[in-house]
Amino acid sequence: MKTKAAVLWGQHEDWIVEEVELDEPRANEVLVKMSASGLCHSDEHLVTGDIPVPFPVVGGHEGAGVIAGVGPGVTEVAEGDPVVLSFLPACGRCTYCARGKTNLCDLGGSIILGPQIDGTYRFHARGQDIGQMCVLGTFSEYTVVPVASVVKVDQGFPLDKAALVGCGVTTGFGSAVRTARLQAGDTAVVLGAGGIGSNAIQGARIAGCRYIIAIDPIDFKQKMAREFGATHTFATIDEAWPVIADITRGQLADACIITTDVAEGHHILPALSVVGRGGRVVVTAIGHPGEEQISTSLFELTLYEKSIMGSLFGSSSAQQDIPRLLELYNLGQLKLDELVTTEYELEDINKGYEDMREGRNIRGLIRF
Ligand SMILES: NC(=O)c1ccc[n+]([C@@H]2O[C@H](COP(=O)([O-])OP(=O)(O)OC[C@H]3O[C@@H](n4cnc5c(N)ncnc54)[C@H](O)[C@@H]3O)[C@@H](O)[C@H]2O)c1
Ligand SMILES: [Zn+2]
Ligand SMILES: [Zn+2]
Repeated sequence: MKTKAAVLWGQHEDWIVEEVELDEPRANEVLVKMSASGLCHSDEHLVTGDIPVPFPVVGGHEGAGVIAGVGPGVTEVAEGDPVVLSFLPACGRCTYCARGKTNLCDLGGSIILGPQIDGTYRFHARGQDIGQMCVLGTFSEYTVVPVASVVKVDQGFPLDKAALVGCGVTTGFGSAVRTARLQAGDTAVVLGAGGIGSNAIQGARIAGCRYIIAIDPIDFKQKMAREFGATHTFATIDEAWPVIADITRGQLADACIITTDVAEGHHILPALSVVGRGGRVVVTAIGHPGEEQISTSLFELTLYEKSIMGSLFGSSSAQQDIPRLLELYNLGQLKLDELVTTEYELEDINKGYEDMREGRNIRGLIRF
């Protein structure tokens, strides 16, 4: 079939919205008619080269839609089912899935290679095969994805709200609740209050944190951070440090979650400086692939038993956490509407990413 998709043909280029050819779903794959897709910063990393992928690629890895067809062997979902597309597929059978660490599933290795899990391509244009970001490619009216990447949700759940739960909401929430293990009464610091950081703030709030300190140089992000649950906001860690020390009576924070646009090695030392004994620094933002140096005090790391932890998808399990987060929304505990600052047509995707770069959006959303 023919469909319209946003394709990136090379680094530092614009997204090109064009008609492409989409194959039928093969074994264990499904055809999805997309309802909405979020503009996550990770697709911007394809443009800058911070996530190295082969070109061309259909972008997008955060979305929701309706099953429009299934390939051979698919029994988990049927035509008409509403689904969230998880940016990480999970097989349910590998040793990581068996331990409940489905975010580390063996299938995760396929998400930035380009083709589908079986190594063949579903999208084609201009006589070339086109890869799919995270084996999804949600910047397309229709896409073919592994059944291992879809999570069935309740009929009638608004899919424009559900779209962001495929990456940003679950990643941010999980970074706070699962990776950082924040608990009632804790103090959390969130460095970078964009799409992921806003949800780390929400996770900290729902976990019952006493103080939630959001740090972002942009005023609008600070204002929204307070709406999502931050008790204090600052432009820099240097400004925040004396206040955190004061309100926690010198104990400092239990965790600092790094959700800046890019993780830089020099973020680690200041992040470690705001957490106290036993404190965790969680690195959710993605760093430059070549970056091998981080700043830290090894002395404090040992004597204060601090830890530095990576977080993929907020250590979450898609099949468990996505439906639960949607229920928290239904109960009025998780804010999803407020996350979307601006909606765009697929044709305006480059405007959406320009707005993200300029700091104008918590999240931009493409509505199909
Ligand atoms: N680990 C994962 O599973 C995972 C999943 C999704 C996204 N990510 C990554 O998370 C990061 C954030 O993504 P996003 O979509 O929220 O991006 P975003 O652009 O919406 O937000 C980034 C925010 O960081 C702020 N910022 C930049 N430098 C800062 C600094 N020095 N101090 C404080 N704030 C600063 C910006 O003002 C912005 O508000 C990206 O690197 C993205 O690739 C990781
Ligand atoms: Zn993402
Ligand atoms: Zn697995």
